[in-house]
Amino acid sequence: MSRQRVCALTDLAEDTALAVEVTEPGEPEPTPVCVVRSGGKVYAIRDECSHADVALSEGEVEDGKIECWLHGSQFDLESGKPLCLPATDPVPTYPVTVEDGDVYVDVAAASLK
Ligand code: FES
Repeated sequence: MSRQRVCALTDLAEDTALAVEVTEPGEPEPTPVCVVRSGGKVYAIRDECSHADVALSEGEVEDGKIECWLHGSQFDLESGKPLCLPATDPVPTYPVTVEDGDVYVDVAAASLK
């Protein structure tokens, strides 16, 4: 399946993150997704730090980056790449579209850079 609606654009204040779950048909488990608005753009990144499996959506957002609340690694919201230690692996990101005030995410089109 392609994109799914995850929230309204008005649910996302600038430099905040929202935790959502997206279930693909045929998949037993939902995918945890962190939807973020920063710098006027909306991003979607897997809501799971690559270092120790905690929710990125509970971290701080600034200038297109999200910081893991547990050990402080920052991830680029566009690419999912870690910008500092201790995380060394990227986090999957997902295509986002905004249409008529609604935010859509396509978890089937995940990108891992
Ligand atoms: S759990 Fe995220 S940096 Fe350690």
